[in-house]
Amino acid sequence: MNPIELSQQQFEQHFGYESQHTVFAPGRVNIIGEHTDYNDGFVMPCAINYGMAASFSPRDDSIWRVYAIDINETDAFDIKKPIPQSEDKWKNYVRGVVKYIQERCPEFIQGADIAMTSNVPMSSGLSSSAALEISIGKTCQVLGNLPLTLAEIALIGQKAENKFVGANCGNMDQLTSALGQKDHLIMIDCRSLDITPTPVPQGYSIAIINSNVKHDLVTGEYNSRRQECETAAQFFGVKALRDVTPEQFIERAAELQQLNELAYKRAKHVVSENHRVLEAVEALKANDMQKLGVLMADSHDSMRDDFEITTPEIDYLVELAQVAIGKDGGARMTGGGFGGCIVCLVPNQKVDALRQLIAENYQKQTGIQETFYVCTACDGVHQVK
Ligand code: GLA
Repeated sequence: MNPIELSQQQFEQHFGYESQHTVFAPGRVNIIGEHTDYNDGFVMPCAINYGMAASFSPRDDSIWRVYAIDINETDAFDIKKPIPQSEDKWKNYVRGVVKYIQERCPEFIQGADIAMTSNVPMSSGLSSSAALEISIGKTCQVLGNLPLTLAEIALIGQKAENKFVGANCGNMDQLTSALGQKDHLIMIDCRSLDITPTPVPQGYSIAIINSNVKHDLVTGEYNSRRQECETAAQFFGVKALRDVTPEQFIERAAELQQLNELAYKRAKHVVSENHRVLEAVEALKANDMQKLGVLMADSHDSMRDDFEITTPEIDYLVELAQVAIGKDGGARMTGGGFGGCIVCLVPNQKVDALRQLIAENYQKQTGIQETFYVCTACDGVHQVK
């Protein structure tokens, strides 16, 4: 059963009456532009056909009753009272979004019954958290008929994750879940929030392969990367690394390297990655899939060697994928890193060969079974009922 039907069916079973509305917020996959969002830079993700569905009905009071179908847990809180943090992480995504929606729209005191379910694999770099946040933001908007743009809902989701959940993410995941466009990759300028949509190339599939490797150190490593990027930005005397061009970087690279090797490596990745995103837009416009393949490969090497966020399993998956795909199209790790997924742009006729090469080798080499998805680029959050 798809998440939309499941949330509706489980709502009725759990609350004993039919839900009035359903919203769906997608996860995302990032084609190129990693760890550039919090450097005010460029990213090129798309929303995917995996996401979070929330079915809900308004109540006569200000109580929120939330049923998390996948883990069979519930939460309840009164939104007329200050919303406290919970010890359960999942509850803080919901509570945090409601809290910051209220901060922006103090008139919002509408209670609700909600049942939600997701088919985005968790901790795999496909933004299961953003899908949750954006589905709750949209739920609030529908319940209160709130005058919020989708970009505003996205930034509220990010704020909830930063301040209420305690994960210091950038804005790419939430913006993509809110503003994705069917059949398009969206290039986002994470400073201005301008979006340039580019069609998914004709005859190509977006394949995602989950390494099923998860590391506990993700949060700490993510935060230290942010810190190192800030140190590098200070060295260049700019607000964010977005403001450093590749030429400016080269000019002072040796000086920075001598002063702070880590800041040098991180900045090298971010500055080159921003440039690669802009080049990727041009390559897609020109339908130059060989060039896009090179850019994706360079992006992966940069994440492996300079940003140091890949793992041996992920590197191996990318190598296999690159062999199967050949020159037209590409593969790289996607998302925050330290495990999770790789993303491939692969000619339709090579999808089966890709799947097979990985099935024959990955588990043999690593002892871990991969999961293979072919997904489509989808619209961002929307109300389905
Ligand atoms: C995570 C964060 C994003 C972004 C990526 C890396 O997904 O949530 O904001 O920084 O990592 O590109």
